[in-house]
Amino acid sequence: MNWIALLLTILGLVLLGLLLYWQLIIAEGAYLGPRVVVLMYDWSARIYERIKRYVPGDEQWFLGLPLTRALELIPAPLVLDVATGTGRLPRALLRQPAFDGRVIGLDLSRRMLREAVRRTAQFADRLTYVWQDARNLPFDDDTFDAVTCLEALEFTPDPRAVMAELVRVLRPGGVLLTTNRVGPDARFLPKRAFPRDEFERMLSALPLEDVKVRRWQQDYDLAWAVKIGEPRGGGIRPLPEILRCPACTDRLSREADLFRCISCGRAYPIDKDGVIKMARFERATLTSS
Ligand SMILES: C[S@@+](CC[C@H](N)C(=O)[O-])C[C@H]1O[C@@H](n2cnc3c(N)ncnc32)[C@H](O)[C@@H]1O
Repeated sequence: MNWIALLLTILGLVLLGLLLYWQLIIAEGAYLGPRVVVLMYDWSARIYERIKRYVPGDEQWFLGLPLTRALELIPAPLVLDVATGTGRLPRALLRQPAFDGRVIGLDLSRRMLREAVRRTAQFADRLTYVWQDARNLPFDDDTFDAVTCLEALEFTPDPRAVMAELVRVLRPGGVLLTTNRVGPDARFLPKRAFPRDEFERMLSALPLEDVKVRRWQQDYDLAWAVKIGEPRGGGIRPLPEILRCPACTDRLSREADLFRCISCGRAYPIDKDGVIKMARFERATLTSS
């Protein structure tokens, strides 16, 4: 091999290394599709919190306390945490003595949810976990008093579409809490992370008011907003009332250890750890009636 060929090989390997570093470490598989993202989170679920090193006081100060205050006028509020991971937001909220509501945590990584169940066991009677994709939330419109989605929009194929989905299930007057990736790596996440003014415009283009985007951590801005419309209802509602079939959007009825669509008959089992499995449902056993 002559010198030029050797140099080109080394250059090729370096470029390949940089490409892999970008796609797998910085973007965490975001441009390779949800399957790769989920695979990466499934692999790292056990060590995720060791990497993140959340400080409990900060979690209370920036998340649990302000969200509890924002919901203080609603008796027993119902909160949805999309891309809940290992249950960070449910923990911050349910540790607040003044929060008397319920939380539903949804994620597409089954192993992250397993960790979430383990880490929030003390709050099990006020928590439900759902295994499902954020792009197709299995809930009725205008359902939740608050919808949260932290450090996750950039890992979905279309953050704008996911934001619209978050707002769809939020009831008028309800609170949206979400994040936008900033910091040094954000420039390597085109169409997934946005300049602050563009992110504000994206939120304002949705039926939202009181949009506030503030610097939060080195890598994230935190965004608060309220859904426009006449506030009504609110509070905890039974699951069969709010759950919708992700395949046909019709209602689900509760059977012993599953939810079944009253229209298409698809079954969504409740796993041994209590997680409702919607992302990969068992083949439909159609009811005869
Ligand atoms: C950086 S973690 C954030 C977890 C949690 N919100 C937190 O702040 O600790 C990103 C999470 O998004 C989830 N996720 C990525 N794409 C998703 C999708 N399309 N639907 C639902 N969850 C998704 C991952 O499985 C992972 O748990």
